Amino acid sequence: MLITFEGIEGSGKSTQAQMLKDALIEKGYKVSLTREPGWGRLGHLIRTIILEDRELELDPLAELFLFCADRAQHVKDYIEPRLRNGEIVICDRFYDSTIVYQGHGRKLDMRFVTKTAKSSAGETTPDMTFLLNLPVREGLSRLKERGDITKMDEEPVEFHELIRQGYLLLSRREPDRFFKINADRDPASIHEEIKASVLLRLTS
Ligand code: TMP
Repeated sequence: MLITFEGIEGSGKSTQAQMLKDALIEKGYKVSLTREPGWGRLGHLIRTIILEDRELELDPLAELFLFCADRAQHVKDYIEPRLRNGEIVICDRFYDSTIVYQGHGRKLDMRFVTKTAKSSAGETTPDMTFLLNLPVREGLSRLKERGDITKMDEEPVEFHELIRQGYLLLSRREPDRFFKINADRDPASIHEEIKASVLLRLTS
């Protein structure tokens, strides 16, 4: 089973992904936690190019293909073998990030971005996607407290607003896969809600 976490910057995805992993391991499941972009040698290089190299003005189409290149390698070498092995894979961001950031955010052609983003994962699709929904102002202020700002984080508020709206649209289109979670509350209660949904799916 593939579980993905999505949301704007500062929405708490990474914390929740880690909490879910720990909870499922405690229940006896075999679980791997990973993230995009950034897995493996290629992912590391791509992450540096896209998110850290401030000298480089990346063309939006080039950016799209770099995120998709990262995913193609990640899915083939890391995610697919584990899913075939019956493991639960939790991924912090997946192709929905490409659809909203490069489609809604960068305003590339939505149909093309959606097709390219999904194709980069081959046959692999998430079984459950948790969308951590939070007002942009709140996400950005959490980010400032945390430090560690990437190039994408520095985009104007309007960009992050497009991302938030893009996610909400996706979650309305695929209500069976998306679980929209109110992320504007304490991490423990968010975790309980997510854990309950996953355990229900795993045992039904
Ligand atoms: P994060 O790992 O700190 O969430 O940073 C990843 C950044 O990259 C985040 O701003 C979202 C962005 N991103 C895209 O624009 N497209 C993608 O396909 C992915 C996976 C991430």
